[in-house]
Amino acid sequence: MTTSTTTPAVQTDKLFQPFRLGRYELPHRMVMAPLTRSRARQPGNVPSPLNACYYVQRASAGLIISEATQVSLQGQGYAWTPGIHSLEQIEGWRLVTDAVHKAGGLIFLQLWHVGRISHPSLQPDNMLPVAPSAIKPAGNAFIENERGEGELVPFVTPRSLQIEEIPYVVRQYVCGSKNALEAGFDGVEIHSANGYLLDQFINSSTNHRTDSYGGSVENRARLLMEVTAAVSEVWGPDRVGVRLSPLGKFNDMGDDNPEETFGYIAEKLNAYGLAYLHIVNPTLVALEKGTEPEPSGRRMLDLIRQKYTNTLMIAGGFNHETAEQWLRQGKADLIAFGRKFIANPDLPERFRKGAALNPDDPSTYYGGGPKGYTDYPNLAQESGEEPKPSVDDRWR
Ligand SMILES: Cc1cc2nc3c(=O)[nH]c(=O)nc-3n(C[C@H](O)[C@H](O)[C@H](O)COP(=O)(O)O)c2cc1C
Repeated sequence: MTTSTTTPAVQTDKLFQPFRLGRYELPHRMVMAPLTRSRARQPGNVPSPLNACYYVQRASAGLIISEATQVSLQGQGYAWTPGIHSLEQIEGWRLVTDAVHKAGGLIFLQLWHVGRISHPSLQPDNMLPVAPSAIKPAGNAFIENERGEGELVPFVTPRSLQIEEIPYVVRQYVCGSKNALEAGFDGVEIHSANGYLLDQFINSSTNHRTDSYGGSVENRARLLMEVTAAVSEVWGPDRVGVRLSPLGKFNDMGDDNPEETFGYIAEKLNAYGLAYLHIVNPTLVALEKGTEPEPSGRRMLDLIRQKYTNTLMIAGGFNHETAEQWLRQGKADLIAFGRKFIANPDLPERFRKGAALNPDDPSTYYGGGPKGYTDYPNLAQESGEEPKPSVDDRWR
């Protein structure tokens, strides 16, 4: 099941040097990126021992960022994703954070409100999803059908949020933050990327508002800034990260002047003293393929690095060699890995040893049980020194 090999790490590798992140000392600079796996226990979207097993297997990451986690019922957009708005969910997450801490790891929770990327069947009382403006996204929502199976159905036109409701949206993030603290997390990441609610406010294609939350870049960034301030008050800013995806097209997104928009936001975020800014690499495809990136992507990365003067994390398309290169060239301080962590629970050790990597299986990304989730072996299991990971489904 192994494919690519990597070169063994050498002592001078920057990737394996410790890094001070706010009040934490990371043993190295490899972060596990947030990864939705749609395996929360039902009913109630509650994290389970199976989820704890998955995260603890990956506790050797310098930092784990949890899968995106809805801050409210309204914030949910996909079947079976976990929440952080009920007592049961807090207790479920406690299993995860305890297990990760016992294994010596650190874990932040990714705070999520999907906005228009939802469907009435996932919303309380079958209401319409909310958004900055009533603009329907192209594509499909992933819902649970009457037979309890996952199904893709077309998105609907969302309802535009009234200005009086916006403080309520901020409060959802505050509740999620307080609950995350209660659940034993080490910090939180505000999900302002990939076409979800905060990104919908930021990008001009999804925000046609004419009030103080639309129009100018200051106005479109206002909700993110309010959420950042409110969440920082709960956690202390040095335990809060923000994730952005400049130039991202995922979930039918676009902006008229991305350099102005994201340059402004990156600069503005300096004032909060955050743990980090996390960028989804706009040159992901080129980096992965080893081809020349679009000049716009390169320009955007340079701009963010220049405007944001604190810790910068980048995710998207990295392998051992390119991660090391980008750190050495000063393009980032931390590198997050997504798909490689799905298939390689012990990714840091594999990089250190130059060991082969397991390929990931996209057919098991979302939903299901242990298969493609907790059954990827670590090196000791692969060589037979330890028993193979269990695919026992009882833990669900
Ligand atoms: C299965 C899957 C689920 C993902 N879920 C999330 C998520 O919950 N939150 C998020 O911000 N990004 C999510 N992403 C994006 C990843 O965090 C990451 O940016 C992307 O995989 C690129 O990094 P990679 O090339 O190392 O895989 C997801 C990606 C994949 C493949």
